[in-house]
Amino acid sequence: MASNPTSIYFIILCIFTLFFKPLIAESNSSFSFQNFNKSSSFESVLALYGDAKVEHDGSSIQLTGPLESSAGRVIFKNPIKFYGGIPKKLVSFSTYFSFSISSGSRNGDGLAFVVFSDGYPVDLFDDNGSYGLSNGDDFKFLSVEFDTLMDDKYGDMNGNHVGIDLSNFVSLKATNLSLANLGLDSGNRLQVWIDYESSSRRLEVRMSKFGSNRPVDPLLLQQIDLPKIWPDNEGFFVGLSSFNRNSSQLCNVYSWSFKTRQSPDWMHSEPLDPIVIKEGKENEIKIHKKNDCVMRVLSALIVGIGLGALGSFAGMFVWTLFAKRRPVSPEEYAMKPVVDSKSLSK
Ligand SMILES: *[C@@H]1O[C@H](CO)[C@@H](O)[C@H](O)[C@H]1NC(C)=O
Ligand SMILES: *[C@@H]1O[C@H](CO)[C@@H](O)[C@H](O)[C@H]1NC(C)=O
Ligand SMILES: *[C@@H]1O[C@H](CO)[C@@H](O)[C@H](O)[C@H]1NC(C)=O
Ligand SMILES: *[C@@H]1O[C@H](CO)[C@@H](O)[C@H](O)[C@H]1NC(C)=O
Ligand SMILES: *[C@@H]1O[C@H](CO)[C@@H](O)[C@H](O)[C@H]1NC(C)=O
Repeated sequence: MASNPTSIYFIILCIFTLFFKPLIAESNSSFSFQNFNKSSSFESVLALYGDAKVEHDGSSIQLTGPLESSAGRVIFKNPIKFYGGIPKKLVSFSTYFSFSISSGSRNGDGLAFVVFSDGYPVDLFDDNGSYGLSNGDDFKFLSVEFDTLMDDKYGDMNGNHVGIDLSNFVSLKATNLSLANLGLDSGNRLQVWIDYESSSRRLEVRMSKFGSNRPVDPLLLQQIDLPKIWPDNEGFFVGLSSFNRNSSQLCNVYSWSFKTRQSPDWMHSEPLDPIVIKEGKENEIKIHKKNDCVMRVLSALIVGIGLGALGSFAGMFVWTLFAKRRPVSPEEYAMKPVVDSKSLSK
């Protein structure tokens, strides 16, 4: 008989897992394209603007063509919210893409991964800004720029750097890619990982040559409190944008994936200072520990209550089977428990 309650518990556990999964699972704001051919049907998910077009075989999206002042953009059509799920959790995101920028006689701006605030006209190209974006008070954006143009106006260090910009092309933080032995406009394929962890408000950028592994340490790391900067839970859009200025620099995107996940907002007002990466890591570990602990207690509680309730239900069920061995109910019904207990005792 011992196996009977065990299997009931197992079934109950399965039901519970299924029931609670939607609360823990990621929202559907994710996609992954290894190429952009017809069978990937990327058009239902991504929108192309400006000169952006799919290369004939679908192997890439060409954002800028070999023409002066060519500008192009690819945007994920679904708006993303800062908060999601029940109970409300902060939304974190991760994106990966691979791209190349050809060298030109002159340099274009390069490429930017952009988080457009709600109301930003994503189809607008501004040739007075960079990457086709408006350096503006009107339109807010967060971007990670892969800058191939040394622009004194914005205090650029050189024509080969990656920077984090907040509605302004003077980067909050930037790093010299030559030091990492990466060349943006080498024509070679490069890959990028950008992660925004909402519980720590941390944006991390990693980069490597195509085919290499994801680096352990980020190239750039910046504290950005997005939900605070854009306080309403409005939708934001993500995209890749490029402007070649008056060069003939080509910019191609070969693959792009993006996903969001919801994480509990346990952050109180602990100020984190990511200036020293080491220090940042310590903080990260601390936060995870806290999360883990609370999550463990919560899930233990949920499973405990669930098992308790359904366990006693199962107990009652078993009790009714054996306590009422000779019920006054129809024959067919009365037979069933007898058959069950026979097959189980074998
Ligand atoms: C899934 O996507 C659809 C449309 O893209 C949206 O209306 C819906 O709210 C999303 N569901 C979740 C759980 O995010
Ligand atoms: C399109 O891409 C898929 C993989 O994403 C691949 O299996 C398929 O062969 C490609 N089709 C063409 C016509 O290139
Ligand atoms: C272009 O940008 C510069 C500074 O970034 C600004 O001074 C100038 O007024 C802008 N021009 C136009 C036409 O918006
Ligand atoms: C960037 O790194 C390269 C290679 O080490 C170096 O030659 C160059 O001076 C650096 N530029 C800046 C602005 O630090
Ligand atoms: C075009 O290139 C020339 C030469 O490098 C430069 O002087 C000029 O400012 C550029 N024009 C624009 C709009 O970027």
